Amino acid sequence: MRESIRVFAPATVANVVCGFDVLGLAVNAPGDEVIMRRRSEPGVVITKITGDDGRLPLDPAKNTASACVQMFLQHIGRTDIGVEIELHKKMPIGSGLGSSSASTVAGLFAINSLLDCPIKQDDLLPFAMKGEELACGFGHADNVAPALLGGFILVRSYDPLDVIKLPYPEELHTAIVFPEVDVPTRDARQMIRSKVLLKDAVTQWGNVAGLVSGLFMKDMDLIGRSMVDVLVEPVRSILIPDFHKMREIAMGLGALSFGISGSGPSVFSFTKDQETAERITAAIQKHLSTLSIGSQGYVSKVNANGPIILD
Ligand code: HSE
Repeated sequence: MRESIRVFAPATVANVVCGFDVLGLAVNAPGDEVIMRRRSEPGVVITKITGDDGRLPLDPAKNTASACVQMFLQHIGRTDIGVEIELHKKMPIGSGLGSSSASTVAGLFAINSLLDCPIKQDDLLPFAMKGEELACGFGHADNVAPALLGGFILVRSYDPLDVIKLPYPEELHTAIVFPEVDVPTRDARQMIRSKVLLKDAVTQWGNVAGLVSGLFMKDMDLIGRSMVDVLVEPVRSILIPDFHKMREIAMGLGALSFGISGSGPSVFSFTKDQETAERITAAIQKHLSTLSIGSQGYVSKVNANGPIILD
């Protein structure tokens, strides 16, 4: 049995524009790392967090990575076990890239692997959703499911939980830009109206069906034209600097789509190839720099694997 483990879990693009709380995909980078070591005393402690500028709680009951590990140990009846966790944030917090979800999934994958997998990887999902509940008040699965399972995920139902792995075109690329302004998911969720017009709902579910069909048919143009959000984006986009100008830049450079990643402020486009994705991130970042807004850019294919053991 291992004494320690180092795990990486990836960032994710949730919602995928039209699928609020039901669609998400994992990317190759960025992501978070967890180093977990056994210790002789029972219980879960956090010994170190790096890359968070002191923003995340060291209290194991409040940090999503450790709190979920505690829940997992209770569930499997092994509260006699003791582990210490180092969390290395290698991605921005409050970015709309599933930062809390990457940490949570890394922690859960680490403890399950350290104990020789007492439960199946898929069955870690409800624990990871509890982490989202702790982080933002609602246990949405559209970040944690792709972070845990890899790939492109549809959450068909929350009750009962029904999560489906979708196919996608191999050459699909994601161009992500994180403008360095903070948008906490909890706040961005509170902005959304709880009632919608039937005509908007019709547009939205037509687009979700169109996107899912496009993924199955590997029809890039259908994927692109389905990525329209009439429910959430009009409200949330006001939190994002020059959102509409960034869209104009991306679409002008050949993006298939443009929208908010998760609850923002990160934005992303789908493209047919890496070069187009790189041109788009560079141009958007250049535009943000003219507004004196720092940014991070990431280009990635869909990450089919989810979390991995580094050593
Ligand atoms: N579906 C969630 C939301 C994702 O939009 O609030 C958060 O990253």
